[in-house]
Amino acid sequence: MSEKRKKVDIATRDLVLSNDQLEKVVVLLEQEFNEGLKRETNPIAAVKMFPTFVRDVPNGREAGKFLALDLGGTNFRVLLIELNGKDFRSDSQIFAVPQHVMLGSGQQLFDHIAACLQEFMDSRHLNGTRLPLGFTFSFPCRQEGLTKARLVQWTKGFACRGVEGQDVVQLLRSSISKIGVEIDVMAVVNDTTGTLMSCAHKNAECRVGVIVGTGTNACYMESADRVELLPSDFSDRSVDPPQVVVNTEWGAFGDNGVLEFVRTDWDDEVDTYSLNKGRQLFEKMISGMYMGEMVRSIVADLTRRQLLLSGVGSQKLFTPHCFQSAYVSWIESDPNGSFAKTRDAMKEMDLGHADDDDMAAIQMICERISTRAAHLVSAAVATILRRMRREYTVVGVDGSVYRFHPHFHDLMAKKIAELTPSEFRFDLMLSEDGSGRGAALVAAVAVRQIADLRAAGLIE
Ligand code: GLC
Repeated sequence: MSEKRKKVDIATRDLVLSNDQLEKVVVLLEQEFNEGLKRETNPIAAVKMFPTFVRDVPNGREAGKFLALDLGGTNFRVLLIELNGKDFRSDSQIFAVPQHVMLGSGQQLFDHIAACLQEFMDSRHLNGTRLPLGFTFSFPCRQEGLTKARLVQWTKGFACRGVEGQDVVQLLRSSISKIGVEIDVMAVVNDTTGTLMSCAHKNAECRVGVIVGTGTNACYMESADRVELLPSDFSDRSVDPPQVVVNTEWGAFGDNGVLEFVRTDWDDEVDTYSLNKGRQLFEKMISGMYMGEMVRSIVADLTRRQLLLSGVGSQKLFTPHCFQSAYVSWIESDPNGSFAKTRDAMKEMDLGHADDDDMAAIQMICERISTRAAHLVSAAVATILRRMRREYTVVGVDGSVYRFHPHFHDLMAKKIAELTPSEFRFDLMLSEDGSGRGAALVAAVAVRQIADLRAAGLIE
């Protein structure tokens, strides 16, 4: 190892987490889960454990055409999904959410969504057809019903005025009514719930949905008796034993200070330059929105300290948010001793003067950041598996980091196995478009349940 790499190795040791540290993360998260679930402690809990109103996975009898809207990252999607038992066909279109809309008023945001929906329906000649719709809204919401979700606070770079505290389905309906399109909003779900549902549609053992993308979060099937915030009439008509999907919102883990033993000064810097300072601290150590920024902060710091790049940076290196998270994947896809992709990333950052030792050291930094992220997510998944105590569980996973990072899946599979007793077996299953298809599935289950109740003469 070169002198330069040795120094960088020593300077970044705190990014390598031992199994003892991860074990402590598991114990702490378990405590946070319990606080979030209890009525008394929920108001001050960092991890909110929101009950969804989804209590059952699809049974394979769902059928028909459904629309789905998917808002939760930098893009917004509209989908038309045709379900027929286990088969499905989908057609979708991606629309950008411009920065001025992400930071504008709520009305602008929902009008933009309605306009995209109208464009989609026009181009598919769907006008005049009344379709049920599932809305994936991937932000922390307190749900009051399957079609009522109040946004608690924005995450992931969104900051539209006048939405926090409001029911997002109401806002969506009012923007849709202005364009005169006939839509029945049947369900609003988080992307984690969508992921769980779409994987459960394929494999009935799926009980957990995890996202490692722009943000990170998970949901899982919890026994209803442990979820104190459920309304008292919830268990009526539900499956036996009663259960419900809980949206953990684990991104906020650490917001009360419990993760300081694994956070570094660079984590503080990333937090300082974010839109939601002091919030979503676990998410900021893991997800795609922050991974590049984390690497940038470290490389910039080590350059200032003359440990890298002969002390010479570039304007981009010293400007927050200029290092894309995708560069981390490029850099880590170079095989050992090769620098082709790393050199491309250096050029993008105006750091063409990096020599092979610099690039090897930067590769090590990227690897440490993504490995730390994968290990933290693994500890969190192990917390859920240890809590569920099932013999075998399928964990549905989605998100750009999990999908596109070259080693993330393998790192997670290995570390979860190390942190979970061997009697609780598991598999990680890549979800196929959980946020889109999952919302349509929840809408389809709702439509089917209404039809079943009607057939049984229980409703008009
Ligand atoms: C953020 C959101 C959460 C979402 C996650 C993944 O953490 O708060 O609702 O599930 O990102 O998109």
